[in-house]
Amino acid sequence: MKRVITYGTFDLLHYGHINLLRRAKALGDYLIVALSTDEFNWNSKGKKSYFSYEERKAMLEAIRYVDMVIPEVAWDQKATDVEKYDVDIFTMGDDWEGKFDFLKSQCEVVYLPRTPEISSSQIKQDLAKK
Ligand code: CTP
Repeated sequence: MKRVITYGTFDLLHYGHINLLRRAKALGDYLIVALSTDEFNWNSKGKKSYFSYEERKAMLEAIRYVDMVIPEVAWDQKATDVEKYDVDIFTMGDDWEGKFDFLKSQCEVVYLPRTPEISSSQIKQDLAKK
């Protein structure tokens, strides 16, 4: 069984996220999503999500492609997660192209093309204008 992992905030869940999760799952058989906690978003990414960690987690768990959701609490947990969860493939959108190549000694690393013209920040900006 091939195990896949991906990371993100997945706030204001949108079709760009669904496209990413569908293709991530198709790379293997079991998809783990490491979901940024509210503290990690605020302290390390400098952003406040609209939905709380628990709300974002519940939405991700309702998606057929997602098998397990774990918390992302630090930038440097990836190598440990790959080891701990016996991950075969690490995948992210290609806005992160090259950033996680250091994991190639542990597993396959795949950057998937982002869906154009949609992001959580874009949704927030557009709604703020109305
Ligand atoms: N993603 C994607 N296509 C999009 C938006 C996001 O493939 N249009 C992917 C990202 O590349 C990442 C995952 O979805 O692998 C989670 O991204 P996240 O940063 O949570 O979503 P964004 O909509 O990009 O959020 P933000 O605007 O806050 O950066």
